[in-house]
Amino acid sequence: MTDARTHGSTAVTTTGGTATAPALLEIEGLTSSYGPVRALDGVSLSAEAGRITAVLGANGAGKTTLLRTVSGLVRCSAGRVTLGGEDITSAPVEAMVGKGMAHVPEGRGVIAELTVDENLRVGSLFRGKVGREEFDRVYDLFPRIAERRDQPAHVLSGGERQMLVIGRALIAKPRILLLDEPSLGLAPRIVAQIFGLLRHLVDTEGLSVLLVEQNARSALSVADVGVVLNLGRVVVTDSARTLMGDEDLRHAYLGF
Ligand SMILES: Nc1ncnc2c1ncn2[C@@H]1O[C@H](COP(=O)(O)OP(=O)(O)O)[C@@H](O)[C@H]1O
Ligand SMILES: [Mg+2]
Repeated sequence: MTDARTHGSTAVTTTGGTATAPALLEIEGLTSSYGPVRALDGVSLSAEAGRITAVLGANGAGKTTLLRTVSGLVRCSAGRVTLGGEDITSAPVEAMVGKGMAHVPEGRGVIAELTVDENLRVGSLFRGKVGREEFDRVYDLFPRIAERRDQPAHVLSGGERQMLVIGRALIAKPRILLLDEPSLGLAPRIVAQIFGLLRHLVDTEGLSVLLVEQNARSALSVADVGVVLNLGRVVVTDSARTLMGDEDLRHAYLGF
């Protein structure tokens, strides 16, 4: 079913031609464990600039661990991560924002007692001086957040919290955004709105996105490339369109 496909770190181009230049984010042979539990087992994939790369897989596949390892929250036991050609495998987590990587963890953590605006300011802490125009840009992108800028974050709905944490990541002007399950628990209409906005940012501003999702159908509808993870290993890498059209693969790994 899947054996004839492109595996591992082989680049996939969706616009024709061959990808010879290294991708913005290159992950090679990444292996991470929690004690005896090997959560990632030699994962290789790349996220190209100006693309949405979706990593899909069931609960426990290793998606969160992948993002946590890439952003330095979990230390790998083997493998290599490069961003824009720079080896960041051992870089401390607090250095990542300065290198252009913003990680939006699962769970939409906001500081409930702080206002929306104060929560956005947190996003600028590790990025040196951030001008007012960056805040205005985020508010333009998310008008619902703008309306609530002086309200405490605990009044926000799930969708609004997700917008806030994405906005907080964008404040730091990342080259690549790592998003962990942004659709979880949100109404399809809100998911479509958030994913549409990501697509807009990628298409108009050249943002790059590494999106991790159990919701494969929605993720593939917005992504350029899909990587299917199962039990800590890459099963298949292909264009989102091809994966969407592969019924056997969808049934076996993607749950739709
Ligand atoms: N903090 C942890 N301690 C021990 N095992 C963990 C921890 N976090 C995740 N795991 C295990 O690692 C594997 C991958 O988990 P995770 O990366 O959270 O997958 P996903 O995000 O795809 O659901 C699972 O077997 C999970 O039980
Ligand atoms: Mg997870």
